[in-house]
Amino acid sequence: MDSKINKLDEQIKLAHLGGGQKRIDKQHQNKKLTARERINYLLDEGSFEEIGLFVTHRTTDFGMEYEQYLGDGVITGYGTINSRLVYVYGQDFTVFGGSLSETHAEKICKVMDLAVKVGAPIIGLNDSGGARIQEGVRSLGGYADIFYRNVNASGVIPQISAIMGPCAGGAVYSPAMTDFTLMVEHTSYMFVTGPNVVKTVTNENVTSEELGGAHTHASKSGVAHKTSDNDVECLEDVKKLLSYLPQSNKEVAQNLPFKLGDEIRDVLSNIIPDNANKPYDMHEVIKGIIDEDSFYEIHKDYAENIIVGFSRIAGRSVGIIANQPMFLAGVLDVNSSKKAARFTRFCDCFNIPLLVLVDVPGFLPGTDQEWNGIIVHGAKLLYALSEATVPRVTVITRKAYGGAYDVMNSKHIGADLNFAWPSAEIAVMGAKGASEIIFKNEIASADNPIEKLAEKEAEYAEKFTNPYRAARRGFIDEVILPKDTRRKLIKAFSMLENKAIERPDRKHGNIPL
Ligand code: HXC
Repeated sequence: MDSKINKLDEQIKLAHLGGGQKRIDKQHQNKKLTARERINYLLDEGSFEEIGLFVTHRTTDFGMEYEQYLGDGVITGYGTINSRLVYVYGQDFTVFGGSLSETHAEKICKVMDLAVKVGAPIIGLNDSGGARIQEGVRSLGGYADIFYRNVNASGVIPQISAIMGPCAGGAVYSPAMTDFTLMVEHTSYMFVTGPNVVKTVTNENVTSEELGGAHTHASKSGVAHKTSDNDVECLEDVKKLLSYLPQSNKEVAQNLPFKLGDEIRDVLSNIIPDNANKPYDMHEVIKGIIDEDSFYEIHKDYAENIIVGFSRIAGRSVGIIANQPMFLAGVLDVNSSKKAARFTRFCDCFNIPLLVLVDVPGFLPGTDQEWNGIIVHGAKLLYALSEATVPRVTVITRKAYGGAYDVMNSKHIGADLNFAWPSAEIAVMGAKGASEIIFKNEIASADNPIEKLAEKEAEYAEKFTNPYRAARRGFIDEVILPKDTRRKLIKAFSMLENKAIERPDRKHGNIPL
């Protein structure tokens, strides 16, 4: 028996060496952890149980039968993060550059299937040269098997992708179909076609970093939800993100223990400037409402005119969507609509209540926006919020103008409780624009048109740019003092905890994609 046990030990040691010490050293020289180191860092100590350690590829072309590595370039299994079950796979760049073979794909599919059956998150640590070139279509089939599972798991279990090395070609579509994509600065990149093909086809000179590095995807394309400086930070980010999420769509996120006592926050009374056209940082409002240091921002550098992220309010996980007056005056445009719509749908899938903070002057005008489809993209947010059945609460801090008033979680599209601060301005448009249109003739024929415009503007402002007309109609449930906002929200989300909505029977809706 001893010799058999020794053989098992030897095999395990061999498997743990992946593609060999030289390649492990190269990985470290490139400022990357190995797949095994990443998994060990991510999971609670000693909790990892590996599945498929001895799997090898079945290729016999190009002399591949003589080059076998136990595990075949991906480490798969399960473990815990802060005592919660998760499934994980980590591509091992030291084995054929982490490239995806038929068997490599089978291993990933196996843990994905388990994750869905059991109802626990799946986390993929991607570091791969793409399709295993020696395998041809079998590798492509393997990718498609994963894509299909990504779709089946969507809205059932949280799916998180950390991109920690190359991710190119069709391989990018698995992360794109997961819920969150995190990237590491300078060591990861994602693109459908790399710089060489780009040069041939479009004659553009671009580096991998410029084309598909973390910064590019976090700020330009929106493909990356979060970036970090190195592998360790990225893994910490994954853990933190997970803390706001439930295990599956059948559960709610864990409530953290919380002591009451700071519900009144005077700081909120001094944020809105006297001049309604002056910007302020909506992060200050968020900070004033939520539990200390609990904001986890998503898409921080993309479409900065809207803020989205997770937070905790009296220990409860809450998704926040907030216009940001610091950028483009907080308007809704193509990118901000897409960003907020996607976030809304995630929260709705996973029973995370939504708080919407509104200071929006309207939709961004212009040919650029119209030709790029602001109609259909704006509709995404309108659709997503209208469809969301989780508890939904709105606070209008200042402007809520035009169609954007409707879109930003108004009562009319199903919000449960709508609050407004006394500084709220709820109208079809700003007083100046409105007066220029409806008093056009009166102003033109006045002895002093400028004075007349100012007079009409003041008249319109007095009538409409306040929260009281909306409150009288019941469109606003309560006008509240800013300092009371946290207290009101704690009670509101607690009151809404057992909210249940039945939707009409249908296969699925047809969100404007
Ligand atoms: C097999 C691969 C491989 C691949 C890398 N390797 N990519 N083996 N299939 N796709 C192997 C290399 O031969 C090398 O083996 C080791 O991995 C490390 O690769 P290096 O080139 O030495 O590393 P580096 O310089 O860091 O460059 C990494 C790389 C480069 C940029 C990823 O290897 C590369 O361009 N690879 C090819 C990428 C590609 O074209 N893939 C197919 C994309 S199409 P040794 O033995 O020397 O260690 C695709 C379609 C998917 O993926 C479609 C899904 C629908």
